[in-house]
Amino acid sequence: MTALAGLLRTRRSGGRITDAAPSDAELGDLLALAMNAPDHAALRPWRLVLLRGAARDRLGAALAAAQGATGPERDRAAAKPRRAPLLVGIVLRARPHPKVPEWEQLAAATAVVTHLGLLLHEAGWSSIWRTGPLLDAPPVRAAMDVAAGERLLGWLYVGRPDPGAPRGDRPPADPRPHLTVLAAETAETAETTEAAEAAGPVPGW
Ligand SMILES: Cc1cc2nc3c(=O)[nH]c(=O)nc-3n(C[C@H](O)[C@H](O)[C@H](O)COP(=O)(O)O)c2cc1C
Repeated sequence: MTALAGLLRTRRSGGRITDAAPSDAELGDLLALAMNAPDHAALRPWRLVLLRGAARDRLGAALAAAQGATGPERDRAAAKPRRAPLLVGIVLRARPHPKVPEWEQLAAATAVVTHLGLLLHEAGWSSIWRTGPLLDAPPVRAAMDVAAGERLLGWLYVGRPDPGAPRGDRPPADPRPHLTVLAAETAETAETTEAAEAAGPVPGW
């Protein structure tokens, strides 16, 4: 098995994460590799925002405000970013391009996040991509410094995997329901071709 195959077999999102997190320098190194992702016209239409320590509470307060919650519900919403020591906010900064529609720029951004998740896994870290219904709420956008024209795609919650969390190989998925093979010709085209061949060469050709 190749190293990449091994990583893909054992990759899983980390719902349970402890308090250790990669340093900015380590994350920068991983990001430099993750950036080698398919990116039509090399627009790099994304940016990442790191949240550690009390900065997570700024986001927590914004989530609670956006939800309009009070009492214990407010506390629960505010505590959400505390579920990991490091949050990597993912921001799409798509721009008009004559050949690259927004969806392709979104695809490029998500490819970087996928790479980063795999690289974190290889380095022994755990991560999970989280979103929720409040990504576009003004208090959340403001807390994350998301500018007009940008779109918040959620956060990669990063930390050390909880020792009790599930790990190891996953049974390989069955790709067959997701795979078809396109024939070179449709039945209709095949009939026309057969008839044309039976009729022989076109006179004068
Ligand atoms: C764009 C995106 C947003 C997601 N948002 C959430 C979320 O808000 N909450 C959550 O529990 N899982 C969310 N997930 C799913 C988890 O990241 C994870 O993929 C899922 O728990 C399955 O675990 P696995 O990756 O180990 O298969 C999201 C996944 C993607 C790709």
